[in-house]
Amino acid sequence: HTIPVICLDGPTASGKGTVAAALAQTLGYAFLDSGALYRITALAAIRAGLALEASAEAEIAALVRHLDIRFEAEQVWLNGENITTAIRTEEAGMNASRVSGLPAVRTALVALQHSFRCLPGLVADGRDMGTIIFPQAPLKIFLTASAEARAQRRYQQLIAKGDSANMSALLADLQERDARDMSRSVAPLRPAQDALLLDSTHCTAHEAVQQVLAWWQQRQ
Ligand code: C5P
Repeated sequence: HTIPVICLDGPTASGKGTVAAALAQTLGYAFLDSGALYRITALAAIRAGLALEASAEAEIAALVRHLDIRFEAEQVWLNGENITTAIRTEEAGMNASRVSGLPAVRTALVALQHSFRCLPGLVADGRDMGTIIFPQAPLKIFLTASAEARAQRRYQQLIAKGDSANMSALLADLQERDARDMSRSVAPLRPAQDALLLDSTHCTAHEAVQQVLAWWQQRQ
């Protein structure tokens, strides 16, 4: 493919979302927040009265094919309803992690993810962008940070939103989600063989963006 894709994969709260959005903005590229698609799928499944488990796998996958999703100016719409805040809760993230372990659901979301690729390029944020969805991408980054640093960032995000937050509960949730994402049989969270590792434990999002831009320029 001649349309360039920059993949940013990594564990929850590693700063991928912030870095990927800033990169897309700087380069004038489209942006795929694949985690949002799993969050939306989980919400739609709950709304349809489905259990987020293997017994409902085929039904959730069928539901994915009929989702009416719109991303517009940082807002997300599902079947005409604004679900921007509903999909951003910790619970929505945990539910996304549950549906994301169902192979048929992952398969059902492939075409939708590919449809985000358009000129002049795409920045794709997720867990399996480099390994499964865009294996031919010319630049793949695996962004990590220590679990403590990630919990700390999530804590500050929640407090800034005016939500209550508990550091030890956040750390436990994050470790549970990491464990599930890394151990699942389909598309487990891991760096692609040709991914560059970027540890953001001790750097700001801005510094991470500068590093990725430098790598991107080296490939031009
Ligand atoms: O990145 P975010 O926290 O929004 O992702 C929510 C959940 O969706 C993750 O914990 C993971 O289980 C799942 N996910 C995935 N593959 C992706 C993106 C997200 O399995 N490409």
